[in-house]
Amino acid sequence: MRPLKREVLVFEDTRLLIRDLLKRWVALARAAIDENGLFNAALCGGCTPVEFYRQLSRLQNSSLWQKTHLFLTDERFVPPDDEESNFGMIQDSLLSRVDIPSANIHPMVKDPGDVCRACGEYAEVLQKHFVYPKNRFPCFDLILLGLGEDGHTASLFPQMPYHQDSPDTVVPVSLPRLKHKRISLTLSVINNSRHVLFLIMGAKKSRIVKDIIEGKKACPAACVNPIHGQLTYYLDKEAAQRLSPRKS
Ligand code: 6PG
Repeated sequence: MRPLKREVLVFEDTRLLIRDLLKRWVALARAAIDENGLFNAALCGGCTPVEFYRQLSRLQNSSLWQKTHLFLTDERFVPPDDEESNFGMIQDSLLSRVDIPSANIHPMVKDPGDVCRACGEYAEVLQKHFVYPKNRFPCFDLILLGLGEDGHTASLFPQMPYHQDSPDTVVPVSLPRLKHKRISLTLSVINNSRHVLFLIMGAKKSRIVKDIIEGKKACPAACVNPIHGQLTYYLDKEAAQRLSPRKS
């Protein structure tokens, strides 16, 4: 098991957490643009990041947005205007409010038809944008992840084969518990990024946060361990409440 380059940050409230996260976003974006000319980030869905996306949209620095490419970590297999769509949520809370070129925005599902075809198409988008050898994986500058109470992250669920060394970049997800089929980046991609950042808030996540940070649970989120990158947990104090003091 690779040693973890991990930091666990706990914030008194949402305002302070988001303020710090915005600074981190700008710093990572500027560093990536200085080094490679672009900032490539993948955004998660769910409810937790909505306020962060809204606050991020107040960053009206056009020069940053011109060189930022936004992807998704996962998507429900629904049209973009469906209330379940992660892209629809990100469009409303962020993309419609900033001066980012449409060519820099990479939704996962254009028309919900064949989920396997959609996976292949997105894998091709990644291959063309990141240009990496066939047996390797794209390297994102930042992947923002949420966490489900069962230990899922992106759309990688405990009930599916989520092993870390998947040869795939994007996989279809279909589980009886899920209302819609989904597609998701794999752990192979997530663990190949420069910076993985979990954004977790609320008391209901405190048990799974403790289990994962203290290494007590085998689940997809516990397998997030960037090979060369940094892993950071952004927690509010409710989500961190079960952590022993030395862990937070
Ligand atoms: C999704 C997300 C998923 C989410 C967690 C937490 O498509 O739903 O990518 O992984 O991050 O389920 O969701 P909440 O933030 O709503 O608790």
